[in-house]
Amino acid sequence: MATVPEDGGALQLHHLALAAAAVALVSAYLVWFWALSRRLSGPHMWPLVGSLPSVVLNRGRVHDWILDNLRATGEAATYQTCILPLPLVARRQGLVTVTCNPRNLEHILRARFDNYPKGPMWQAAFHDLLGQGIFNSDGDTWVLQRKTAALEFTTRTLRQAMARWANRIIKNRLWTILADHGASVDLQDLLLRLTFDNICGLTFGKDPETLSPGLPENPFANAFDSATEATLQRFLFPSFLWRVKKALGVGSERSLRDSLAVVDRYLTEAIAARKATPSDDLLSRFMKKRDGSGRAFPDDVLSWIALNFVLAGRDTSSVALSWFFWIVTQRRDVERKVVQEIAAVLRDTRGGYDDTGKWTEEPLDFDELDRLVYLKAALAETLRLYPSVPQDSKYVVADDVLPDGTVVPAGSAITYSIYSVGRMESIWGKDCAEFRPERWLSGDGTRFEPPKDAYRFVAFNGGPRTCLGKDLAYLQMKSIASAVLLRHSLDLVPGHKVEQKMSLTLFMKNGLQVHVMPRDLAAYAAPPEEPAPCQGVVVIPTTTAAAA
Ligand code: HEM
Repeated sequence: MATVPEDGGALQLHHLALAAAAVALVSAYLVWFWALSRRLSGPHMWPLVGSLPSVVLNRGRVHDWILDNLRATGEAATYQTCILPLPLVARRQGLVTVTCNPRNLEHILRARFDNYPKGPMWQAAFHDLLGQGIFNSDGDTWVLQRKTAALEFTTRTLRQAMARWANRIIKNRLWTILADHGASVDLQDLLLRLTFDNICGLTFGKDPETLSPGLPENPFANAFDSATEATLQRFLFPSFLWRVKKALGVGSERSLRDSLAVVDRYLTEAIAARKATPSDDLLSRFMKKRDGSGRAFPDDVLSWIALNFVLAGRDTSSVALSWFFWIVTQRRDVERKVVQEIAAVLRDTRGGYDDTGKWTEEPLDFDELDRLVYLKAALAETLRLYPSVPQDSKYVVADDVLPDGTVVPAGSAITYSIYSVGRMESIWGKDCAEFRPERWLSGDGTRFEPPKDAYRFVAFNGGPRTCLGKDLAYLQMKSIASAVLLRHSLDLVPGHKVEQKMSLTLFMKNGLQVHVMPRDLAAYAAPPEEPAPCQGVVVIPTTTAAAA
């Protein structure tokens, strides 16, 4: 009979001990994991990887996946999940709280505002692009910029400047391009160019003319795009990775560095030009301001300020407009009402039962735009279902309990799904999936009436960090929407797939390919005899092929 040598026995014992320890460790982990997953209310979690597999599987429909999860919680409209279920990290970096509960939103965005800043991860990732500008700062740095900017944003002169810049681009370039278009155009691309030019004009008094015949490449716009793209890449992987890439100057970090150099040169020239000839743009206004100690803002701070406004105001309106125009192609009753309203205002201000030619000589002016309440309601309804910023997140400074009882530990993150707020039956009622601008109007249809509970509609955020450009954005969107629909009707190119792009902004992944036809205004020259019937299309699909 073979005997086990003495040292072989010790080895076997050692292996047995190791195996027993491993079994004990795995069992302890599984018990711990079981207790953790019982406590959390979100999607299914697996050991070690948490809910990451579901995130990956649903990466093409993240916003709808989050919405499904939130709907599954019923009235609570909040869940917690873990993407790194390991002891020590599971309660902090690994834990994600997701909510669209209006009471929680009010708590995070207003009542306990100081406990929920943007936080260190967001700030570090955006620092190279945005410095400590308003969009990327917390605390005193943010307060000073917010106060200074808020004063400017409430002035009527700024809104008039916005309308002037927008109308100049519409009249000189957008109308020409739409009139000369080929078989079809990507309307989203035109709109992105238009709002980029518009926000640059308003911010530093220089229109880069990216929307021009031939749709030229523009080094500043390209550099800005690739810098934003490279910055967003930093969120995809653990933060030490981008720090290493930055130190080595490779990959997306190298492209970020090169793009920032182009952006920086452009802004330095813009600042010098505005110093030489001040105008009515935001930069010129900030040059006249003094900081807390009575000093003028230095050039690098002016540069951050300008860049932050460009980032905040560039894509948000064009993306909202793209969804609005798509809905208009699906809902002819909405289109008819929008054009009828514009016609009613123009009949009043420009006359014209017999000469609608006067209606299209100039885009609508500031006072005419102010009267378009149905159009504003249709835009708000678009933002309810397709918010340009579909989700946002905040960092938890100190342990807290949300109004619905959810415990949020310090160091963890809260994601609030703006997309879901607008689509929950518990928040917007049974017809939440229906596109119905009337829900934003007073009973007689003459006034725009936002919901009494401001946290049922957070497309422009809420609380002290509410979007500063909200009124400007509505004005700009009304100006562009009325200018396009007054001259043209649109048809979606058959077979074109309208799909969401998964990004910080709700772009259309494949753009918006439309046929642009001239509009015959004769039908609108006299007031309509009876109201247009509602077609009652109920569910607005999120991913759709062109309607037959
Ligand atoms: C449809 C158009 C727009 C939408 C949906 C929108 C939405 C938002 C949202 C959700 C935020 C909060 C972002 C955050 O804190 O993470 C925000 C902030 C901001 N928005 Fe807008 N925005 C729009 C247009 C504009 C425009 C045109 C401007 C400027 C001209 C602008 C200026 C700002 C600024 C400066 C902030 C930062 C406020 C702060 O942190 O104190 N926005 N916007």
